[in-house]
Amino acid sequence: AHPQDLAGRHVVVSAGGTREPLDPVRYLGNRSSGRQGYALARAARARGARVTLVAANVTLPAPAGVAVVAVETTAELREQVRAAARTADVVVMAAAVADFRPVVAASHKIKKRADGLIEPIVLEVNPDILAELAAQRLVPGQVVVGFAAETGDESADVVEHGRAKARRKGADLLAVNAVGGGLGFGAVDNAVTILDGRGEVVGKCAGTKDQVAHAVWDAVGPLLRR
Ligand code: C5P
Repeated sequence: AHPQDLAGRHVVVSAGGTREPLDPVRYLGNRSSGRQGYALARAARARGARVTLVAANVTLPAPAGVAVVAVETTAELREQVRAAARTADVVVMAAAVADFRPVVAASHKIKKRADGLIEPIVLEVNPDILAELAAQRLVPGQVVVGFAAETGDESADVVEHGRAKARRKGADLLAVNAVGGGLGFGAVDNAVTILDGRGEVVGKCAGTKDQVAHAVWDAVGPLLRR
């Protein structure tokens, strides 16, 4: 049995990876499966929360008892996360958000030109949904949590980068995980170091995505307003 420390709370979790259309059949995207976000939603439900899961291009089955809102682009993710966040005690941004989007999505399939070349694709930066939520706080006292995948060979490197990001983003918690190995946690699904907004380590977990999810909620609990 899990602690019911999220009973009566509304939590919003984003999961998956956004896609930015290039033309009617192509997109810029990433390889996020949505598994960590889904584990966070399941764990929050198990701890008594009402959960809204904003899922970008995820093919996993909806977790029982969780409201899933499906989105594709970063603009849609932003809109749906912000709408749900208006009544949320906690927002966890576990989605991999595309950093850039094509300035225009072509209305026809992009074709090679007669000279065999292709028109350049011009990109613009997407808004940082996490940083906005942290700066604006749609609900007073709302807890805002981010995830950050860092690359680095030394665990110190990864945590150092995470520390700087935690301060920059302004979120209450940032769960930092090393991608591409280097931490010696090859046998586990995920290994995260949880930092607070000042970059101090407040938790650590190496295990399944469900175990990592519970470690994140363990760190959120003490930050909830009464
Ligand atoms: O800066 P970076 O992409 O590493 O930050 C990752 C965190 O920021 C994740 O929580 C992700 O969901 C969030 N993010 C966001 N909007 C963006 C880019 C990242 O909310 N445009």
